Amino acid sequence: MDKIRIVGGNALTGTIPISGAKNAALPLMIASLLTDETLTLENVPRLADVNLLTRILVNHGVDYALNGKRAGEDLLTGQTVSLTARSITDTTAPYELVSKMRASFWVIGPLLARMGGCRVSLPGGCAIGTRPVDLFLSGLADLGADIDVDAGYVVAKAPNGLKGGRVAFPKVSVGATHTIMMAATLARGETVLENAAREPEVVDLARCLTAMGARIEGAGTSTIRIEGVDRLRGARHRVVSDRIEAGTYAMAVAMTGGDVVLEGAEADLLAGPLDVLRQVGAEITETNRGIRVKRNGHGINAADVETQPFPGFPTDLQAQFMALMTRAKGTSRITETIFENRFMHVQELARFGARIHLDGQVATVEGVERLTGAPVMATDLRASVSLVIAGLVAEGETIVNRVYHLDRGFERLEEKISRCGAQVERISG
Ligand code: UD1
Repeated sequence: MDKIRIVGGNALTGTIPISGAKNAALPLMIASLLTDETLTLENVPRLADVNLLTRILVNHGVDYALNGKRAGEDLLTGQTVSLTARSITDTTAPYELVSKMRASFWVIGPLLARMGGCRVSLPGGCAIGTRPVDLFLSGLADLGADIDVDAGYVVAKAPNGLKGGRVAFPKVSVGATHTIMMAATLARGETVLENAAREPEVVDLARCLTAMGARIEGAGTSTIRIEGVDRLRGARHRVVSDRIEAGTYAMAVAMTGGDVVLEGAEADLLAGPLDVLRQVGAEITETNRGIRVKRNGHGINAADVETQPFPGFPTDLQAQFMALMTRAKGTSRITETIFENRFMHVQELARFGARIHLDGQVATVEGVERLTGAPVMATDLRASVSLVIAGLVAEGETIVNRVYHLDRGFERLEEKISRCGAQVERISG
């Protein structure tokens, strides 16, 4: 298993290209199941989760083609991927594949809408809470599907097709919003999603579906209306930039000091976290190339945050912000409201000498003057990168073990930050 070795102490200076968003690329790739024509996606990040989803889609009968690099592109430029589900040869999504990544469960929406039935294993994914699928199942039932759970599989049937309906989510769920929105594009009549997720990745998926011929209004607000159509066609779409990757590097620069342009990052998708970073002492400006983050001289102040669905502070940046707060002047309170078990990085951060007290869903972080390098273990995707951020300022050597978590969601992280002066290397093993 690969490890990452970091020697802390260097400021970050330069440019970091921001990749296409993993959390948009995954549902966009799944949308290819809705049409027998080709969906071409540009700016797809090179990530383990993308590779895994490709295997799942190929298993359903999707043809996959990776277009070659064009002149001027390097390995940090996103890939262009063409997906064609001319015929769906298998409507079962097996446990061996779905259990490795929760988002693969989302195939249930398109498979059911296009094929009138499917069997999809209940998901696995990050160990950050129980993450049930009740909202998916009740939403599909609202569109007229018959749902059974049998031997670990959801068996969904709608032999005469789905019909539009009102789906009022009792809780905001990004995945359930993606899934029911995709299913509704091919249902008969109008579907109204209430209390829908407003995340930019939902907006990106709606844009792509619209380019494929879907009729969708209101994506980005909490009420989405979808008028079903008979069929969707192929399209070409560019994946939105990864706001979580951009926010992560912004926090890394706030931590180390320095001056970095996050190339291609979109400030309006990150307004909440950028405000918090300004509040703690980072200088943030929007430029025509992306977002510029600077911190020179002065230290970091403490601030309290509470995670919330978009446009609130994202749970996917909570671990990184906690790493930053370990070095703040003063005490901060970090409240996690989305997932009940998303504090596994706390005990790893403690290995650097961080002072964090956990009480239920609230972590109280007392800033310290120095962190010291340590061997640590990545426990989930976002937690793992918080350890890298701590390692970048810790005195001496940090070894981050179980880097495969990082590879699920951060494209060529060590290359991107070492180009900006970090002392970091991957140790293969
Ligand atoms: C997506 C993101 C993930 C992010 C999360 C919240 C992707 C690939 N992943 O995950 O990075 O952390 O949104 O912003 O886009 N829930 C239920 N019942 C359900 C579904 C969800 O109770 O049927 C709960 C979950 O347990 C959780 C909350 O709803 O407590 C939000 O989860 P959800 O928005 O669905 O997260 P994901 O879509 O899995």
